[in-house]
Amino acid sequence: MGAAQVPDPSMWVLPGARGVRDARVVAVGGDGIGPEVVAAALECLAVAAPELRVVQPIQGAEAIARHGKAFPAELEQELAAADAILFGAADTERGHAKAILQYLRWVRESYANLRPTATLPGVPGLTGQERGANLVIVRELTEGLYPGREGDLALLAAGIPDYRDRMGRALPAKGAFALRIVTEGASRRIGAYAARLAAHRKALGVAPGRVTIVTKQNVLPETDGLFRSACEAEIAAVGGLDVDHLYVDEAARRMVAQLDSFDVVVTTNLFGDVLSDVASEAMGGLPLAPSAAVGDGWAYFESCHGSAPDLAGRGVANPAATILSAAMMLNYLGLPEAGRRLVAATVATIASGVRTRDLGGSAGTGAFTAEVCRRLG
Ligand code: IPM
Ligand code: MG
Repeated sequence: MGAAQVPDPSMWVLPGARGVRDARVVAVGGDGIGPEVVAAALECLAVAAPELRVVQPIQGAEAIARHGKAFPAELEQELAAADAILFGAADTERGHAKAILQYLRWVRESYANLRPTATLPGVPGLTGQERGANLVIVRELTEGLYPGREGDLALLAAGIPDYRDRMGRALPAKGAFALRIVTEGASRRIGAYAARLAAHRKALGVAPGRVTIVTKQNVLPETDGLFRSACEAEIAAVGGLDVDHLYVDEAARRMVAQLDSFDVVVTTNLFGDVLSDVASEAMGGLPLAPSAAVGDGWAYFESCHGSAPDLAGRGVANPAATILSAAMMLNYLGLPEAGRRLVAATVATIASGVRTRDLGGSAGTGAFTAEVCRRLG
């Protein structure tokens, strides 16, 4: 823990394609605690980067009342025209924001989901962080199991009557299926992003320049074999990087046992979802884990945590992950100094003992946010 330093968000996301002056940011709270943590992050952004133009279109229950749907065309137009988007959370079972998340991720092809984990001063994690963990999981966000190609097995059996498993057996008579599709194009573009990010971190002098490819290739040689070889080709093309490979179960174990052994991790969609929760919990808490989702000339920013409906509306949620996501957004928008100041103020607030309940403190969302703003001002 002694080695924990204030992380620089320029280690976590590459600058966006365009340097944007007076960027236009669209903020969408979504479900559960989403609106509260986004409001907190916007308070901090108003101090850290007052030049940003922030738009908050109506959504959810308000949009249903006015337009008859939670994701009206007006909101889609605002999102499409944004330089960057700050998003709260989606409750995919009971909430209104699922359609918004679908648009942000899949309609707009936000293919690179960047999920950094850094040991923070004063936040005790699990073991193996003596050097201070500082990794980024680069999760492929468009394919694998997430497009939801599911159905009744009879459908698959009707389409491919001779389909056999590796033991030569026919499909079971009854059940359901899910298709996990991996393409060379999507694997190459995520491998290329991971390689560029690793080279950038190496050039900053904060990481050794190593990309760990995580798969389950022993069980899935076709799909994960393709993913791995495509990533390897892109990493080799960037040059100057070390590459290694772990099976996903071993990667999970190592994140718990020795989190500081990772630099950049590149993996498929579902493995990245699970591993990013493992890594952040090993660091000391999911409520501290930010993320970015980047496509071509497009990016949106959200915490890794969910909508926490049990905490919603009580003013107790930890806004740190959304504030740190906003810091990633500042770096993406070409405002790295403001991003650094925002991270530093958030980390200093936590280290000073002003903490929400999840970190053993008694501060509410408002008191935590006010302290971050005071330190920024
Ligand atoms: C995440 C969440 C999502 C995912 C859900 C809300 C669809 O767990 O962003 O990590 O599985 O990607
Ligand atoms: Mg998740």
